This record gives sequence, structure tokens and C-alpha cells, in this order.
Amino acid sequence: TKDWNGIDQIVLRNPQGASARVSLHGGQVTSWRSDRGEELLFTSNKAIFKPPKAMRGGIPICFPQFGNCGSLEQHGFARNKIWTIDKKPPPLHPNDSLGKSFVDLVLKPSEEDLKCWPHSFEYRLRVSLAADGKLTLISRIRNINGKPFSFSFAYHTYLSVSDISEVRIEGLETLDYLDNLCQRERFTEQGDAITFESEVDRLYLSSPNVIAVLDHERKRTYVIRKEGLPDVVVWNPWEKKSRAMSDFGDEEYKQMLCVNGAAIQKPITLKPGEEWTGRLELTAVPSSFCSEG
Ligand code: BG6
Repeated sequence: TKDWNGIDQIVLRNPQGASARVSLHGGQVTSWRSDRGEELLFTSNKAIFKPPKAMRGGIPICFPQFGNCGSLEQHGFARNKIWTIDKKPPPLHPNDSLGKSFVDLVLKPSEEDLKCWPHSFEYRLRVSLAADGKLTLISRIRNINGKPFSFSFAYHTYLSVSDISEVRIEGLETLDYLDNLCQRERFTEQGDAITFESEVDRLYLSSPNVIAVLDHERKRTYVIRKEGLPDVVVWNPWEKKSRAMSDFGDEEYKQMLCVNGAAIQKPITLKPGEEWTGRLELTAVPSSFCSEG
């Protein structure tokens, strides 16, 4: 299918009725719906679905730079580029193919990209939707350059939540984090699950591979499984920053939370011919909250 700018999008569906939509603009997942038709990713009502900027929502890909600590544009160029579809992708593993639909997208640097980041790479992104509704993103980045290069990376995942004040994250307790709101100062998280009552922009370091985001009001838990992605960025712009973003509604911070599997603190270095894999799996399961203490 095409979006209203004529850019190709791929819709994946499973036999149960779950779906995911992936845009060639940025290789960005722009929708992920459960078999009951509920949208699980946040998209701003003021999102602009037009290059050159990434759409505000879904899962933009930050590569080869996260944030603005580098010479490139904020979060790197990958999210702003038009990717291509690999029409003859390598098949799924036979043990893993039941009821699964997938697409492979490819990004290679343009002349223009090579001027600001002079490293040849081939980036293959596989997005798949399983029979149980699980969404998996696998990024394989290969150095096809004569020299080593380094990059940072994040799956900038906008989760849709009922009300940010009812949400907590489990799995980041006791970790060290760098706080982007105070000169990247290093702190240690206390023992409690993380809850939200003001702006948050943090990089949690050396995190476990499974993290849960519990939405109490909607009785839904997002389970985030990741591999190759030691860090986690947690971001909510809250009131003031929301008002400053032109493609984001003033009140929308209440309905979203970004929890981004990432490799940032220690950049990934690839020698010529080497390949890196970063994998993200998202599931949304009904949560059973225990009411009897
Ligand atoms: C977050 C960063 O992940 O992305 C924030 O930690 C940033 O600092 C946010 O503001 C949004 O970035 P952008 O470029 O998509 O507006």
C-alpha cells in the first residue's frame, strides 16, 4: 500500500487478525495492532508523515548516531531516508515460520550520506509479526568498508499508554543511568519500579534483556525482549517540552512512553566485513493485577 505521500508501506497480518505496518520512509514501524484491533504504538495526532523528518510515533530507527552527541543530525540519518524492500529475502528459519509474516528492508548509504558519514554499510531490517501477535525487529548492520567504523543505535519505541501516571517500568531498578536533563550526570536508580510524575530523559546502562512496562489502567503489560542492546532510553517530554514540539500535541505526553532498546554508551565498532545484530521483540499481554495484597 501507499501512504498519502505516495511512499510505500507494507502491512503484515497474522491469521488471528493482528497487524503491523512498516513504512519505507525510515524503515519505521508506524502501527502495531493486536488481534482485537487495538493500536499498541503511539502516534501523535500532529505527526507529519512526510520526509525529510521522521514521523512522531511508532518505532523510528536511530542510526548511526543517537541524540545529538556527534556530528550528524539528531538521531542519525536512517530514520529520514527512503529504504528499499528486499524482494528476495533469506527465508525464515523453518522452526520459526509458523503463522509468521515478515518483510526485509535494506538501507545503503547514498553519496550524500557518505559525505557526512564516510563509511559504507549495508543495513538489513527484518520486521516480523508472529501468530501470537509478537512484533520482532532484527537489524543487521554490516561493514562493507575498508576500515572499521563505530555507531550508536536505538529502536525509538513509542508505546501507547492509557495515562502516564498509571504506568510503571520493571527491570531498570538499581541500575545506573545518565540523566540527559542534567548534563548527563550519572545516578543510580533506587529499588522501586519506575513511575512518572515529570519529564524523564534517561539512558539506563547495562540493562537486563527483558523489561516490562505495566499499564495499570488498561491492564496491559508490554514485554520488551532485546539482544545486542545493552542500554535503555526512557523518555517522556511532559508538559513543557510537549508544548515546544510542533509535531506533538500539548496533552499527548500522557498517552505515550518511549522505552528504547539501544546501544549508546559503548558505541558498536565493526571491522571490515563484520556484522552486528540488534534484536527487539515486543509483546502486549493482559496483566493480572493482584488485589489481595
Ligand atoms: C529521546 C531523546 O529519545 O528522543 C530526547 O532522549 C529527544 O532527548 C527525543 O528529545 C525526541 O527526539 P526527536 O529528534 O525525535 O524529537
